Formats: sequence, C-alpha cells, structure tokens
Amino acid sequence: MSLLAVDQLTVAFPGHVAVREVSFAVEAGETLALVGESGCGKSVTAFSVMRLLPPNARVLGGRILFEGRDLLAASPPEMRELRGKQISLIQQEPVTSLNPVLSIGTQIAEVIRRHESASRRAARNRGVELLDLVRIPEPQRRIDDYPHNLSGGMRQRVMIAMAVACGPKLLIADEPTTALDVTTQAQVLDLLDDLRRKLAMAVLLITHDLGVVAQWADRISVMYAGRIVEQAGIKPFFAQPMHPYSRGLLGARVDVDADEHYTANRLSEIPGSVGSAADERGCPFAPRCPIAIADCRTAPPPLLPLPAERAVACPRVVA
Ligand SMILES: Nc1ncnc2c1ncn2[C@@H]1O[C@H](COP(=O)(O)OP(=O)(O)OP(=O)(O)O)[C@@H](O)[C@H]1O
Ligand SMILES: [Mg+2]
Repeated sequence: MSLLAVDQLTVAFPGHVAVREVSFAVEAGETLALVGESGCGKSVTAFSVMRLLPPNARVLGGRILFEGRDLLAASPPEMRELRGKQISLIQQEPVTSLNPVLSIGTQIAEVIRRHESASRRAARNRGVELLDLVRIPEPQRRIDDYPHNLSGGMRQRVMIAMAVACGPKLLIADEPTTALDVTTQAQVLDLLDDLRRKLAMAVLLITHDLGVVAQWADRISVMYAGRIVEQAGIKPFFAQPMHPYSRGLLGARVDVDADEHYTANRLSEIPGSVGSAADERGCPFAPRCPIAIADCRTAPPPLLPLPAERAVACPRVVA
C-alpha cells in the first residue's frame, strides 16, 4: 500500500476544471516531484490532499488515500488531527509567513502543543532541538527571535521546523525555495533531503525547476493543464523523456547523469500557451504539440502504462 495514493482526482472552480482525473502515488520515504508550468494544478492538488482548498473549489471526483484511508471522506476534526501530525505542508516563503507578533519559540510550541500534551518548558526545549535540526545556528538564542529578525532562508527553516515538529510521514513542499536565492535554495533542499532520511518521511516536492528535480527527486510526475501526462523514475525520465511536453521541457540538452545539476530550459520556452482543462476535448497539449494528429483533438489520451513503472499520456510515442 502506498503512503499516499491520489486516484482520479478532479477539482473544479466555478467555470473551470483545475485538476482532472489526476492519479499518482507517493511511497513511504521517497521524494516524488510534481512538475508543471504555472497554473497547471500543482497547488490545487496539494491543497486537496491537505483538505485546505479555497471555499469556491469543488472536488468533483476521485479519492485521496493516505495509508489506505480516504481523506476526502475524513471529518474536519479527523483532518485537524492528521494535518501537522501525519501530513504537513510548507509553501513558498513569504506566502505562508510566520505570525509577526509571536516569537519563533512560541509558534513552534503552538504546533507541538496542538498535537501532543507537552508542558511549556518541554515544548520550548523541543523547539530548540528542532531549530538545531533545521541547522539554525545558536538555537538557544534564536528561539526568542521574532520573524523579522530572521532572513528569508532562516524563516523558511523555521517553517520546516514547524512542519516536521510532530514527525509527519509526508511533507508536501510546494515551491519551498522559489523565493530564495540560489545558494540558500540549495541549502534548504539539502536540509529537506536530510530530514527525509532522518525522520523517515516522504516528500512530495512541487516545483517547476527541473534542475531541482534531477538533483533531489526519486520519481517525477509531470502535469499539464490539470492532467498528469508522464510519470517515471528520475534517471529514465532524464535519459529519455517520452511525452512531447516533457521533451519540450528538456529541450535538446538532455544530460543523462541525474547526479549532475541539470540546467533545464524554462518551461515557458515551449511555444504557445496552456489551454484550460475545462474547454479541452482532446489532448490538452495538442495545440502546442509538434507531433499531434487529428485523433489527438477528439479525446484526451489515457495515461498508458509502460515497463519499469513508467506511464505516458500519449499514444503517439508508444509504438
Ligand atoms: N481560488 C481560486 N479560484 C479560482 N481559480 C483558482 C483558484 N485557485 C487556483 N485556481 C485556478 O486553478 C488552476 C490551477 O492553479 P494552481 O494554483 O494549482 O496552479 P499551480 O500549478 O500551483 O501554479 P504555480 O506554479 O503558479 O503555483 C489555475 O487555472 C488557477 O487559476
Ligand atoms: Mg502553485
């Protein structure tokens, strides 16, 4: 049984389907990258798992199984219990900012005391340990700092400390380093990977940076206009991307060694723009696809399973 199995998830906003029949699984302890250009539905997928969708969003179908249990059927109190304890979410700094009027220590203690009966003193001590765990220097002193005393990178470390405080099995990291400079970005990703191993947690890493994917993920799911178009292990994906969209992302410069930091084309360099999943009849990528044929515009292609646990939603590349 997968730790998280999203199965045929469809989520709509008024007049617009943002996520359509999305399926993917995250196995215990692994890093799965969810990749795709702006607006393709990555965050809506993440918020669906957390059950934190905006009020105007409707889940039209599908299941979200966490350790076999359907989160879409869980009650609000059950979800409050799961959030932060079993599944945590970190977002782009400063989108999820810390409370400016409370000290770091107070905010970490709040998270701990929400899920565990710990004395103030015990929670504070745990806070110091957590700051140390996320590699904040002088944690004894930093614990009394306020968010404005810290740099963006340090604030993101505090957010990570709060996210892992109760030892979640799954950490959803939605563009966790987008707002940070390149050096800080690498340090934060290294930290996340270290925590993944130390705390035996899985990471769902949402990013549009293929360099980040090549370096930090075990597997990749590529989204396009609300749908998953390709799934693969990292090495096979970078060695041979199959979906025309994936190929476009990687351009001609395919560097097979996934250990090397990969300099990818920006996603936006593919000509054309993303259509809406709502007004699609055929494959959502067909209008931009160099190998589309008439059939591609009549029905959306299903995700076709391939050997080695790959899948691709394009019959044109599966001979
Ligand atoms: N609150 C909302 N109301 C209406 N539409 C929304 C809302 N939130 C998201 N959407 C729409 O849902 C679609 C998917 O958005 P989502 O935020 O998941 O994209 P994303 O892949 O996370 O993009 P980015 O890389 O920019 O973060 C978009 O078309 C977006 O406009
Ligand atoms: Mg997003």
